[in-house]
Amino acid sequence: MAELSVEHLLGIKYLNENDIQLIFETADHFKEVINRSIKKVPSLRDITIANIFFENSTRTKLSFELAEKRLSADVINFSAGQSSVKKGETLIDTVNNILSMKVDMVVMRHPNPGAGIFLSKHVNASIVNAGDGAHEHPTQALLDSYSIREKLGDVAGKNVVIVGDILHSRVALSNIFALKLQGANVKVCGPKTLMPKHIESLGVTVETDLRKALNWCDVANMLRIQNERLDISYFPTTREYTQQFGVNKKLLNSLDKEIVIMHPGPINRGVEITSDVADSKQSIILNQVENGVAIRMAVIYLLASKIK
Ligand code: CP
Repeated sequence: MAELSVEHLLGIKYLNENDIQLIFETADHFKEVINRSIKKVPSLRDITIANIFFENSTRTKLSFELAEKRLSADVINFSAGQSSVKKGETLIDTVNNILSMKVDMVVMRHPNPGAGIFLSKHVNASIVNAGDGAHEHPTQALLDSYSIREKLGDVAGKNVVIVGDILHSRVALSNIFALKLQGANVKVCGPKTLMPKHIESLGVTVETDLRKALNWCDVANMLRIQNERLDISYFPTTREYTQQFGVNKKLLNSLDKEIVIMHPGPINRGVEITSDVADSKQSIILNQVENGVAIRMAVIYLLASKIK
């Protein structure tokens, strides 16, 4: 049986193209399963998974939990806010205590970049990064590429623009790695102040004119401003940001072609995207969420098959 080249999913940076294709083919199978009347398979009846979230989440947390349950794994959930982390317990102590309860896999969201990498070096379990600060969000990038593949037939050769707060976005970095690995052409668009220095070294080009970027692309992935990570003001006002980098129906209708609109969520309606775009037939935002379950089932299933 084909297997992943990695024991943990810490970032797209550590995957190769074959890993991505294997995850997609496995997700195709699980997507068919979750559309049956009986949406569950017994594949992981002998596996226990802990979802440990040190940061807020709606989509990723629910999607992982559902994916694990659809695979018949035993699932425990941990939110830092209601835990002994509040009493000063360290990350390693917390996770080792959870692992003493015979847990095989840890899905972790953490505000610190590299938290998953650190954990994978110190605990004996398979680690899945569910978002680590402004570093990576690998399952989001996988479900994003999978949704492009589903909508447009392939990712290779497609023009994709990622718009918004590139500097603070783990979604942007993971998407750039994933899209480049699959042969897509990638532009990033946003205020210069929210563009990392040397971003071109990742094989992307920078465009500060949103209309030009939209006229070039097949797909626009709209990101929200990561207000929780902004310690200073990176643009004059939200209103000016929206005028320059927000997408609305009038702008979309004035383009040369019909493009696909994506957003990882949560949406700030009226800031980076208006409701008439988010809810339009050009938007695949809810397809992304639906595909997230199949992608996470595939990732967990493939990693579990490598647990000795
Ligand atoms: N896309 C995403 O990570 O959403 P949540 O923060 O709600 O999990």
